[in-house]
Amino acid sequence: MPPQPGRLEILLRPLTMIWFSICLHWEALKEAIRREGFVALGRPQQIRDAASARLLTVNSKGFIAYENTTIVPSLVHAASGVVLELGPGPGNQIHRFDPGLIQQIYGVEPNPFFRDAVDAKLEQSGLRDKYKLIDCGIEDSDVLRAEGITEGSVDTVLSIQVLCAVKDPRNVMKEVWKLLKPGGKFVFWEHGASRDRLTSATQACLNPAWSRLIGCHLTRNVLADILDSGEWENPQEIEEPVDPRSLLPRIQGILVKKSG
Ligand SMILES: C[S@@+](CC[C@H](N)C(=O)[O-])C[C@H]1O[C@@H](n2cnc3c(N)ncnc32)[C@H](O)[C@@H]1O
Ligand SMILES: *[C@@H]1O[C@H](CO)[C@@H](O)[C@H](O)[C@H]1NC(C)=O
Repeated sequence: MPPQPGRLEILLRPLTMIWFSICLHWEALKEAIRREGFVALGRPQQIRDAASARLLTVNSKGFIAYENTTIVPSLVHAASGVVLELGPGPGNQIHRFDPGLIQQIYGVEPNPFFRDAVDAKLEQSGLRDKYKLIDCGIEDSDVLRAEGITEGSVDTVLSIQVLCAVKDPRNVMKEVWKLLKPGGKFVFWEHGASRDRLTSATQACLNPAWSRLIGCHLTRNVLADILDSGEWENPQEIEEPVDPRSLLPRIQGILVKKSG
């Protein structure tokens, strides 16, 4: 087993990430002003989107390498039929789909700054013709309907570290549940509030800066949001590996939507 990182190291890593993100926001701000002049200041969301896309894109290889050591590859491999990938970001999961099981994938991603990274990954995968990136959030039912994504039309929803990043995870899970066919799968690997007291206190201290600058929340009860969204066949199969020191304790599984 590799040596366990100490508490200090666990704390320093996120602080380094926060500092890196501050630098990226500053770069994105300068870049926007250079391009559009000071009117860019009136569009702070665009600067935030550009910076967070950059943060995830430059770290893409590192995330893929780390996730290679986890259950993520086998979870993504289970996606089949008509798939909705929630928040693909830079497309780190694209190479993990099994093309033979896929009819069509819709990547639903509200941040437009990921398109080039996703396109580059699609070129290297066998999925170019089967993957469609849609520029909206999962809540934008009108846009999704225009693409043919309606209630009960999706075989698999894949959610890899997205519920931490959306505005309203409860609402997002309700949408996910509705879009799934009866018998459809919700495949997820998410993180939330720790059950360890010292770790959850640390999460609470970091969360204000972390959520603003990294774009993801550390303190959510994602399990409740997933379970309360609607009826599932196998809620007992959700896994929560015990990891008391992790600031990103995982919860994972493949839930099947109850059929009638
Ligand atoms: C931490 S990233 C995860 C990226 C990717 N799933 C992966 O495995 O690397 C979270 C993503 O969720 C996206 N997101 C935020 N709000 C969303 C929403 N309402 N609907 C869909 N995606 C959303 C963000 O833009 C971001 O790309
Ligand atoms: C992750 O694993 C896949 C499949 O084993 C391999 O092709 C890929 O190079 C790995 N990626 C990284 C960054 O380690």
